[in-house]
Amino acid sequence: MEPLQIIAIDGPSGAGKSSTAKRIAEALHWDYLDTGAMYRATSLALLRAGLGLEDEAALMGALGNLRLEQKGTAIFLNGEDVSVAIRSPEITRFVTPVSADGRVRKVLVEQQQHIGRRGGFVVDGRDIGTVVFPGAALKIYLTASVEARAQRRFLEQQAKGIPMSLEEVAADIQRRDTADSTRAVAPLRQAQDAVLLDSSDMTLDEVVAQIVAMWRALG
Ligand code: DC
Repeated sequence: MEPLQIIAIDGPSGAGKSSTAKRIAEALHWDYLDTGAMYRATSLALLRAGLGLEDEAALMGALGNLRLEQKGTAIFLNGEDVSVAIRSPEITRFVTPVSADGRVRKVLVEQQQHIGRRGGFVVDGRDIGTVVFPGAALKIYLTASVEARAQRRFLEQQAKGIPMSLEEVAADIQRRDTADSTRAVAPLRQAQDAVLLDSSDMTLDEVVAQIVAMWRALG
């Protein structure tokens, strides 16, 4: 089988996956699929409907009614642009149990596979190379030290005016690392055939250039 024209970028929170993926998509004139945003938008829909994960019938009903779209880098939930709303601290907390739920993952993974089936996508997430697109032509496992990731996230939060200390940001990153890598369903792990890239001492430009060069070397 021909490998799918997909670059899969997995890794822990704050490693720079989404900035990297967007830039690679621009460089190759491909589309970018932000799967984390899909889990976040689903969490927002459940929160707004006052639903948790306990009531199976209500959950399945809500998942059946979800209409998620990505246009460029903006995320739409049933036609509404929720790009800002899905980045709130409340959603960042709630998305951990939501994304650990096998029923939620099944629905979103099917949507992701459907969206990406024609290829020409850079996709970032936690299980893209292992579960969603195991046939991706290039798989990257992008990581960085907790310190480097916390420092970057801290500067981003400051720029957005979100008051969080460096210690709080680092604790949040560690909480998410543990939750994402120890969950029972589709835990975060490096695919066997993924290239490990540690961005702790690299600029975004360097990371992007390396991955684009790897892609070009394949073709
Ligand atoms: O990358 P992010 O922070 O926007 O992701 C939000 C959450 O969704 C995060 O807790 C990990 C989870 N996630 C996942 O489980 N699988 C994916 N493919 C993408 C994100």
